[in-house]
Amino acid sequence: MTLADRRPAPRTEPITDAYDLLMVGWSFVRGNLLMSAVELGLFEALAKEPGTAEQLTLRLGLHERGTRDFLDALAALGVLRRDGEVYRNSPAAEHHLIPGRQDFVGGFLAMTTQFMGGAGWNALTGMLRTGEPHGHDAGSVPFDEVFRDRRRLQLFLSAMDSLGGAIGPELAKRYDWSRHSTFVDVGGARGNLAGTLLLAHPHLTGGVFDRPVMEPFLDELARERGVADRLAFHGGDFHVDALPAADVLIFGNVLHDLPVGARRGLIARAARRVPPGGTVLVYDPMLDDDRTAIDNLVLSLVMMMQSPAGNEYPPAQCRSWMEEAGLRVEDVFALPAHATAVVGRRPA
Ligand SMILES: C[S@@+](CC[C@H](N)C(=O)[O-])C[C@H]1O[C@@H](n2cnc3c(N)ncnc32)[C@H](O)[C@@H]1O
Repeated sequence: MTLADRRPAPRTEPITDAYDLLMVGWSFVRGNLLMSAVELGLFEALAKEPGTAEQLTLRLGLHERGTRDFLDALAALGVLRRDGEVYRNSPAAEHHLIPGRQDFVGGFLAMTTQFMGGAGWNALTGMLRTGEPHGHDAGSVPFDEVFRDRRRLQLFLSAMDSLGGAIGPELAKRYDWSRHSTFVDVGGARGNLAGTLLLAHPHLTGGVFDRPVMEPFLDELARERGVADRLAFHGGDFHVDALPAADVLIFGNVLHDLPVGARRGLIARAARRVPPGGTVLVYDPMLDDDRTAIDNLVLSLVMMMQSPAGNEYPPAQCRSWMEEAGLRVEDVFALPAHATAVVGRRPA
């Protein structure tokens, strides 16, 4: 089949899910993966000799932080093949993505992508080379930057509302809230998820622990939802301030921003703030064990681009942090927005 014969299969079902819509909007990220691979000379290197992530990191002068997620994402897209630990070109990459070969399409791809304004792919290539997010100093926390700018803060709040809006109703149903009376959503932004849990479970009292800047936005949401008498705001910095005590402490889309040491530290501190029988509930768009879930691999690279130590991780890793903190993992389940929840219970 030639390029001219190709007709994309028409989509038969209209999109009904907000998250699928986001995936269409973010589809440029998949293009960035391919463009960065061309720019880094990955296909040429693999045409010379297939290799492991470790070998390719050295051969291409990459930083180890993003290489494995990057290669697995390309394998999940079918651009590479992974046999055990070894990556090689797919037949199409071998034919069409090696500069100098007669059927090379990489130049066309680079030209048209720039022409179409494919902004952002330099950031991915840069992060793969240096291991650092584009535009942030290593060690800086991008939230500070976001919150200083009112317009970016509004955008951020609306983005967090959509995440909480997708996950909240399912978390309200899927987890057994009847055995608890209090929860605090740590890094719960303006409380969209907390509000949903409170409306679904009138016996619960909830809280959100977040940066002080969130307080007026949370107050507004609590009033609008009619849960102001059951939703408290705790302003602070979870790296230095004590976490509030509650039956359930939730960390949703929070740990993946942080260095691994801080993830383990927060879980350990949370495990001491829930009572015996209480739980620490973590959710993030975790990686699957086979490392083939393309959207989660892409989200991992996106985290690396926006946060100096961010990435996605498998549930087994979260389990080990919880067990280290003395918690017993009682459940692992899927949530919308590609998230996985891990629930650790403090033994009674
Ligand atoms: C990516 S958002 C997640 C929001 C929400 N939990 C969700 O699942 O959509 C991370 C949240 O953590 C908060 N956060 C980040 N660093 C924090 C810190 N050091 N102390 C308190 N909150 C922090 C941010 O303000 C933000 O609301």
